[in-house]
Amino acid sequence: MLARPSRIVGFMLAAIGFYLLHETLFANPSSKLPNITLPPPGFRIQYPFKQKGITAKDEVKAEAIKKVMRRTWKLYKERAWGFDEVKPISGGHHNSRNGWGSTIIDSMTTAVVMGLSDVFADQYDWVVNKVNFNYADGLVDPFETTIRYLGALISTVDLLEAGMIEAPSPSFRQDILRQATTLANRLGPAFDTPTGMIWPRVNFEDDIGVDSDGRRKQYTSVHLARAGSHWLEYSTLSQLTGDMIYYKNSTRAWNWLVYNHNGEPWPGILESPRSIWTGNPVGSTRTLGAPDDSHYEYLIKAHLLYPNKKSTRRHAKRWLQAMQSARTHLSSTSAKTNPPHAFLLSFSHERYENQMGHLTCFIGGNLLLGAKYLSRPDLFAFGESLIEGCRYSYVSMPTGIGPESWSWTPRESKPGQAGFTGPLTLPQRNFRDKTGIWPTAANYALRPEVVESYFYGWRITGEEKYREWAWDAFNSIVQMTETEWGYSEVADVTDTDKDKNLRDKMESFWSAETLKYLYLIFSDPELCSLDEWVFNTEAHPLKRRF
Ligand SMILES: *[C@@H]1O[C@H](CO)[C@@H](O)[C@H](O)[C@H]1NC(C)=O
Ligand SMILES: *[C@@H]1O[C@H](CO)[C@@H](O)[C@H](O)[C@H]1NC(C)=O
Repeated sequence: MLARPSRIVGFMLAAIGFYLLHETLFANPSSKLPNITLPPPGFRIQYPFKQKGITAKDEVKAEAIKKVMRRTWKLYKERAWGFDEVKPISGGHHNSRNGWGSTIIDSMTTAVVMGLSDVFADQYDWVVNKVNFNYADGLVDPFETTIRYLGALISTVDLLEAGMIEAPSPSFRQDILRQATTLANRLGPAFDTPTGMIWPRVNFEDDIGVDSDGRRKQYTSVHLARAGSHWLEYSTLSQLTGDMIYYKNSTRAWNWLVYNHNGEPWPGILESPRSIWTGNPVGSTRTLGAPDDSHYEYLIKAHLLYPNKKSTRRHAKRWLQAMQSARTHLSSTSAKTNPPHAFLLSFSHERYENQMGHLTCFIGGNLLLGAKYLSRPDLFAFGESLIEGCRYSYVSMPTGIGPESWSWTPRESKPGQAGFTGPLTLPQRNFRDKTGIWPTAANYALRPEVVESYFYGWRITGEEKYREWAWDAFNSIVQMTETEWGYSEVADVTDTDKDKNLRDKMESFWSAETLKYLYLIFSDPELCSLDEWVFNTEAHPLKRRF
């Protein structure tokens, strides 16, 4: 039997042994987080328009964008009221988001920001008196539901409390939060996994989390965006209601990516997808694009939402780490455009892929936001060059609208470049010869990411070019997509013949995001200032909590 002191020594030796073993087995360079420089109090992210004596508001252009929002709303209301979407060509209607009126709810915050009181009154009535979140048309996608519906509801509370529009009722806070908590509680079974990482769907009838085909499987996995992008919304919901369960559940789910370093080949860049049973990677994709995008987007935004919460320093460091790695490993320059443009590669199955998606274009603006805040001129310049590259995907197309995805001929050589592919079809080859890039999916789904990055560019640098680019994009989009009953997805952005080139579909992010970001570029820059608000990945502004 050991005497007491030697028992302590024995315990210490065992602890040291365990530590050393742990370090040898699991040591990973990525566990060394980078240092960050946090800005001094009172630091401004936005360009100081006022101090520079610049009247940044452009009434005429803001009004033109607002007019398009009014038209979108009027036609939706006339033809599809209560359904998720209007069909912009046929004038029919369609449910794609469980039948809770996604166009109504998702564009509430746009109506508030634009000051459209009559539109907002209709939306408010729908939310408070009509919609029933206890019944779902189909399986519910907790990720889409959180960023669109829940994000819109809590953002509306924040915007009303900030006095951005006159509240339709003195009880707006309780009335909206009652619906928001009903919805969030119904999504609860999504978190019911050993890791807390969410199921891809929730079956509202049986109250259980399921895979996308409605079944429960032993090997279900989720991509990074699904595992991480409810944290801003759930933290805010806890803040507003005082019920910490939302914060707890979303923190637990995301911590598998924020604190673990399993499957992290480059510091901060995580392999995807992940098993919801173990948290470990079951795939080997490394990308900042879909379907992993908003995990990276939310790392810096988590810190900005709660800049004084000590735990969110970790998120800022993880963001910095990921962005440095992206710059080292995933940035690419096109060899055949003049001048050369910057794009982002992906890496999958041991190969680099020279393809970038419209969705990935959020990253330029996100880099500007984080790099300005953390004083990183290197990453700021990286962000600017990626926005420029995304703009090139627009201006090199005959319609002036960028494709869903495109490829280029990379200038650099990479060890896994065997994966680089050239144009496959004759039109693609012609495109490469003319412009240096070629569309790999030529449709445009009314997506916001490129104008979203222009918004950050304008608000942070004050450079006029971002407004010019935004105005060009707006005009090209409206000209090409305007139909009898709204604005429609484009099938092929290389073809200016409108008549046979549209898809009779208009997702709610058109009015929730694309029109809102465009409007905010031409309105007073103090409206939803980046120093006061953080935008969720569906463009719903959440109040920063200092
Ligand atoms: C962070 O800063 C400390 C103190 O200045 C330094 O010792 C450490 O090496 C730095 N870490 C990194 C990862 O740069
Ligand atoms: C929180 O997570 C638990 C599983 O850990 C789940 O049963 C519960 O419904 C969740 N609640 C909410 C509000 O998300």
